[in-house]
Amino acid sequence: MPSTEPALPSGRPGDPCVMVIFGAAGDLTRRKLIPALYNLAKPQLLSREFAVIGVAHKKITTEEFCQQVTDDMKEFATSTVEPDLWEWFVRRMQYISADFSDPNLYPALKQALEQADKDHGTHGNYFFYLATASEFFAPIVENLAAVGLLTEEDSHWRRVIIEKPFGRDLESAKALNAQLLKVAAEHQIYRIDHYLGKETVQNIMAFRFANGIFEPIWNRRYIDHVQISVAETVGVGTRGHYYDQAGSLRDMVPNHIMQLISLTAMEPPISFQADAVRDEQAKILHAIQPLSSEDVLSRTVRGQYGEGVVDGHRFPAYRAEPGVPPDSRTETFVAMKLNIDNWRWADVPFYLRTGKQMPVRNTHVVIQFRRAPFVLFRDTTVNDLMPNQLVMHIQPEEGISLRFAAKAPGPVMKLGSVDMNFEYADYFGKAPSTGYERLLHDCMIGDATLFQRADMVEAGWAVVSPVLDIWKALPPRAFPNYVAGTWGPKEADDLLERDGRRWRNFEK
Ligand code: BG6
Repeated sequence: MPSTEPALPSGRPGDPCVMVIFGAAGDLTRRKLIPALYNLAKPQLLSREFAVIGVAHKKITTEEFCQQVTDDMKEFATSTVEPDLWEWFVRRMQYISADFSDPNLYPALKQALEQADKDHGTHGNYFFYLATASEFFAPIVENLAAVGLLTEEDSHWRRVIIEKPFGRDLESAKALNAQLLKVAAEHQIYRIDHYLGKETVQNIMAFRFANGIFEPIWNRRYIDHVQISVAETVGVGTRGHYYDQAGSLRDMVPNHIMQLISLTAMEPPISFQADAVRDEQAKILHAIQPLSSEDVLSRTVRGQYGEGVVDGHRFPAYRAEPGVPPDSRTETFVAMKLNIDNWRWADVPFYLRTGKQMPVRNTHVVIQFRRAPFVLFRDTTVNDLMPNQLVMHIQPEEGISLRFAAKAPGPVMKLGSVDMNFEYADYFGKAPSTGYERLLHDCMIGDATLFQRADMVEAGWAVVSPVLDIWKALPPRAFPNYVAGTWGPKEADDLLERDGRRWRNFEK
């Protein structure tokens, strides 16, 4: 019987260290980071020599900050909060109210860190989590370096975790990398993509490389095409202002969807060392065929939702959301067809799509295999028989299913499609996780495998940049072009239908 222990990172606790959170009063800290640290403290994966320093503009005291996070835990904890452990944790928290661009902040922070070393035995190991608006990334890192907070010595390490968005196109991502790498070494920079914190995303690698039976057929000889869908039922909510500047393509494709593509398509790495894995991922991203202007017109689709009904509730059109201009041309849906130019994947299209206000929340990767010859089964028409599909369900269902043909009971040989399903929860139980535990723990032990290297981020942007350019030059004419609660504009279906294929939609 497999273990039912929570699927948290295993092994040694993180190193003694201080985590400095820039943007500590924001949503990410309250909803994810603090609950994740607590989840690590429970199975003793957080060092006993640990402290948190929160930094944000909000004018509150350390006491008020601690009260705030204690209240927040009532809402956002993903496991029961044990009073003694929580008390231990809160005693290690401090809050500094400051403007990130105020140069006086940094010497003060340095002092606070040295004091934390004395109080909590954290040995000068610090990591800085930048949960701020992206314009602060480079200035914060430069300021940290200027006061020596990024200087590493044999006796201690210094690391920086950078949130998304990492740039808004290829040029700005390159510029940001250059700015960061001027004052910090690549091994100190942890570019986070929260998709890699998801168990099921990490499991794509386990599934492919820990089993002998899939890899031999994981190529163009047997695979017809791949579909990657990231469907969300939410709209843009209170993030209209950010989202309208970004759009679905920037928000989801160069980061989350590129992770799913690279893990699905990469060659087996020679080890699970950070650079061995990331080298293979980077090779795939570099092998994605750049889209020409004609390709952008024929192989990409953009959409924006109009008013509609999702889950029985009426939702406003994107253009009526708070913070969104009434004539916005920003896309909330994108679909495209990509090709990977290498021996394994030549001529195997990768179709991807993502959108807000879809009928269901569902992220999955579909591997569709080539059809079997049908001569033996004359009573079953080609259209009645779905080809074999292997589906990696990322969320909210977490599992793997395989669709194949079986004989329908009865006196004649007729076939039907059936599914063989595996759900992680049935075997491993449900883990109390925010999705950030593994990533924070990895940073505390210096394992950068699940973080983005500079070249990977740039390769992701290189794929989407030509699309951004053409879309900017040719604004959409018919927005909104899909009704909230549907699977996007009709052109997204046409994209596959033209190739004799169709999306696999998972309904509730
Ligand atoms: C974020 C995007 O990076 O990912 C959001 O900015 C999106 O727009 C979110 O909703 C999706 O994450 P998840 O974990 O809910 O799939």
